[in-house]
This record gives sequence, C-alpha cells and structure tokens, in this order.
Amino acid sequence: MLDWTDKHCRYLHRLISADVVLYSEMVTTPAILQGDTQKYIGFNTQEHPLVLQLGGSDAKDLAKSCVVAQDYGYDEVNLNIGCPSDRVQKGKFGACLMNEPDLVVDCIKSMQSAVDIPITIKSRIGVDNNDSFENLQLFIEKIANAGIKTIIIHARKALLKGLSPKQNRSVPPLNYDYVYRIKQLFPELSIVINGGITTVEDVKVHLKQVDGVMLGRAIWNNPWLLYTLQNELVGEYTNNRDDVLVDYRKYCQTQLTKGVKLHWLLPPILNIYHGLAGNKKWKSHLVTQATQRINDLTVFDEAREFIQL
Ligand SMILES: Cc1cc2nc3c(=O)[nH]c(=O)nc-3n(C[C@H](O)[C@H](O)[C@H](O)COP(=O)(O)O)c2cc1C
Repeated sequence: MLDWTDKHCRYLHRLISADVVLYSEMVTTPAILQGDTQKYIGFNTQEHPLVLQLGGSDAKDLAKSCVVAQDYGYDEVNLNIGCPSDRVQKGKFGACLMNEPDLVVDCIKSMQSAVDIPITIKSRIGVDNNDSFENLQLFIEKIANAGIKTIIIHARKALLKGLSPKQNRSVPPLNYDYVYRIKQLFPELSIVINGGITTVEDVKVHLKQVDGVMLGRAIWNNPWLLYTLQNELVGEYTNNRDDVLVDYRKYCQTQLTKGVKLHWLLPPILNIYHGLAGNKKWKSHLVTQATQRINDLTVFDEAREFIQL
C-alpha cells in the first residue's frame, strides 16, 4: 500500500507473523529503471516471503524491472491492474489495463520470459461499465492462458472518473460472489480475495471458497490481527506485543544509525496496541514527543507506560 507498507512497516509485520506473504508498495517501472532503485525497492532480508508490486504497461520495461526484482531477491513480482488514480491512468497502467487484456497478455509474456520467479496479477472485478461477470471471466481466461497462476482480486470495480483512489476503495460495492465464481470456473488457478475483510472469522469464511485472502487496511489499523491470524491459521507463535516492541525498537536503533529519521519509523508501530486501554495516550505521546525530541528512542519506553495489558 503506497506510503504505508514500506520496508519498515513490513519488517514490523514480519516480527508479528512468520508466514504471511508481504507485498511492497506499487513501484513504477521508471522508478526502478531510472530512479534510485535501492531507495524504491531495497528491503530487509527478514521480510521474505516478499513480493514486489510493479506499476507499468510497457512490456520491455516491465521485463527489465522483473530482472532487477529477481536480482534483488524478491520471491515474486505482482503486476498492478487495480489502481485507479489519475496519475496511474495518465501513465496508462493500473486499473485501466482491465480494458486492454491483449496488452496485459503481452506484458505478462514479456515479464515471464525475463525471469524465473512467479509473475502474479492484482486486479479489480471490473472497471466502469466493463463490469459484467462474463467480461471478468474472459479477462481471467486470457491472463490464465498467458501463464498466470495466481490472481489477487479486489472484489469491487474501479471507477476511473469521478472518484478519488480513497473513494474507489469504499464506494463501489463489494461483490465477493464474482471472485468465488471465478475460483469455481478456474479451479487450477490460485485465487486470492481482497477488499473489506477485517476479522479472522471472515478470513476463515473466504478460505472455504478461495485459496487466499489479502488484507490491507485492517492490518494497518490493527497490526496485531496478523498475530491472531498466524496463530489460528498456521500455528502457535510465541511473540507478544511487548516483545515485538523491543525488537522493533532495536531495528529503529539500527535504522537511525543509517540516517533514517524516526518519523519514518513510527507510523507502522503506532497501532500495535490497538484495542488496549491506554492506546490513545501511547499514540499521542509517541507522535508529540518524537517531533520534539528528534530520534530519541526513549519515547517508546515512556509511551509504553500508558498501556494496560
Ligand atoms: C493508503 C493505501 C495505499 C494503497 N496502495 C496500493 C498499492 O500500492 N497497490 C495495490 O495493489 N493496492 C493498494 N491499495 C489498495 C489495497 O491493496 C487494497 O486492495 C484495498 O485497500 C482493499 O483491501 P482492504 O479493504 O483489505 O484494505 C492501497 C490502499 C491504501 C489504503
């Protein structure tokens, strides 16, 4: 998630769950090929299994970016066909590619021939008036024929005009049934459902119909949900929130010595005590003190005093 799931956030999430698959923010091909590559796609080795999500629609540039991703050690590359922002539409990628299945197929083939790591797709269930189940089925059929084996489907369509990216994550209604039906029609594909899923119970319900569940905002708002998911779906995991805080504090210490500013490291940990008494005070102490006392990690210890476990 752009500006949210950077490498610091992913490091924290890995401390909480050993097995969840983590995704990068969407990175565009020009950023990788012409920008500060290390800044955009560098990561901590602890983050595996880790997927790099690409934004782009130039088959050659996507292929070159996949090679860079593979060389960096990413486990998979995911192509974004779901982002509706104006910037992304201007670059002719993201959700508007759902209207151009042949171009998507060219991109997929070019990416697959460049690397050995899996190429996957994240799409919507449709865009604008291109929102019938039949069209979704045709789209999935085309990309499956191109060799795609895993598709993450955000179960709402995107409206390319008139809605902000934020509204496009809540206004178009969720339609999980489309995703379930895709799984039934393409049992050989690994179908991962996404959109509006917030509880362990809901995850379990979806897993009866599809192969995987992707959670976005729910984990940002309550990272500890990952712990519950890890325990209930994979097996017991011994960390507790305070252990995670201690480990993340150590990580912050290392990052500060590398010149990373504390205000970049704070956002992911702010919600770690979600749901516990004192959570509000913990957050406000961190935010206010960290801006006044630049890079002083004792703010973590002080803020922790507010939490009642
Ligand atoms: C701040 C923010 C940034 C996002 N950035 C991306 C992105 O870079 N790539 C992507 O595929 N989806 C992105 N999304 C969409 C989420 O991945 C997800 O599809 C959407 O929020 C619905 O899932 P959720 O209800 O579990 O959050 C972003 C969402 C948010 C809130």
